Amino acid sequence: MKKTVIVTGGAGFIGSNFIFHMLGKYADYRIVCLDKLTYAGNLSTLESVLDKPNFRFVKADICDRAAVCALFEEEKPDIVVNFAAESHVDRSIESPDVFLQTNIIGTATLMGACRKYGVARFHQVSTDEVYGDLPLDRPDLFFTENTPLHTSSPYSSSKASADLLVLAYYRTYGLPVSISRCSNNYGPYHFPEKLIPLMIANALNDKPLPVYGKGENVRDWLYVEDHCKAIDLIIHKGRVGEVYNVGGHNEMANIDIVKLICKELGKPESLITYVADRKGHDLRYAIDPAKIHRELGWLPETKFADGIKKTIKWYLENREWWETIVSGEYKDYYERMYGDRK
Ligand code: NAD
Ligand code: DAU
Repeated sequence: MKKTVIVTGGAGFIGSNFIFHMLGKYADYRIVCLDKLTYAGNLSTLESVLDKPNFRFVKADICDRAAVCALFEEEKPDIVVNFAAESHVDRSIESPDVFLQTNIIGTATLMGACRKYGVARFHQVSTDEVYGDLPLDRPDLFFTENTPLHTSSPYSSSKASADLLVLAYYRTYGLPVSISRCSNNYGPYHFPEKLIPLMIANALNDKPLPVYGKGENVRDWLYVEDHCKAIDLIIHKGRVGEVYNVGGHNEMANIDIVKLICKELGKPESLITYVADRKGHDLRYAIDPAKIHRELGWLPETKFADGIKKTIKWYLENREWWETIVSGEYKDYYERMYGDRK
């Protein structure tokens, strides 16, 4: 059946991959991307779909109630999927305010419009970071949907606040919501401020590879397409009012990822530079995805060994995409973040 889906934050990493997935799978759906095009949003990422008759791009801020309502009035969406967010932990430590504005107020603004226009499903793309972290010496522990929220950074706190609001709008107003809490994604169009693309870009430019602390922190990596498929399942078949954890049981220490990237690119490990740790650095994330598997049959399809090769190949074949970013205003960010980090 024909549906209109508004995808917020679709010019960013995961949102753009989700748009490609939806346009590829549902030829009769209309996909409308609403994005403010912050430093992390890139219209060139969507170039291949901009001319499609069932795709529309609208530049707007999710906190702008008038602009959001005007778009909802015009498009009458069936489904809204909210990817729009400030997403980088290090930036949230440097300047938290915009995280509170976009991630909390923006989510509430979207839900207000969903209520007004009777949207059938509001899906909030959340993160495993809302659960805080797990100790490194307890590999038996995982985040389930019942793990208490216990955040560490302004970023994760803003995402947890949004999750609580989403659940409150369900209980108080009966807004049909769902939430996915996913682990670390990797793949094409990942902004080069994040670990994997930063290390690939730096290694290709023979620049130092800045590993925080001892590189022992563990993340649970999932290929971005698998995350998009999970959200597709949740918005169509997931239960309203529910939270679904998404992750692929693929835990790796940061240092092992960086060494693997060096190996794949034929670069020396001597490029690795240990730098001052992130403040409040979460030790380990590990998702238990049993619920989404049991209820919706979701399982990750891409193994890390294949996904990382595909990702590196993409960065090699799309140098212009990331070189434009790293040569622009990102240079100032990089200097601020890493310039005298010892
Ligand atoms: P990203 O930073 O690559 O993209 C964010 C997008 O949102 C950009 O296009 C940006 O322009 C847009 N945006 C920011 N503020 C906006 C505003 N006020 N109004 C409209 N658009 C705005 O982020 P990402 O890595 O693709 O993450 C997308 C979502 O998934 C986020 O909500 C994030 O919390 C969540 N998430 C990310 C990961 C991950 O590993 N990257 C894992 C789990 C969950
Ligand atoms: O777990 C999901 C989260 O994953 C998402 O909610 C966030 O939006 C996303 O940015 C990501 O957060 P992380 O903080 O885990 O990702 P990041 O790529 O910033 O860092 C991954 C790990 O690598 C982390 O332990 C910090 C470390 N790191 C990161 C950078 C950028 C380094 O050692 N050096 C670096 O230069």
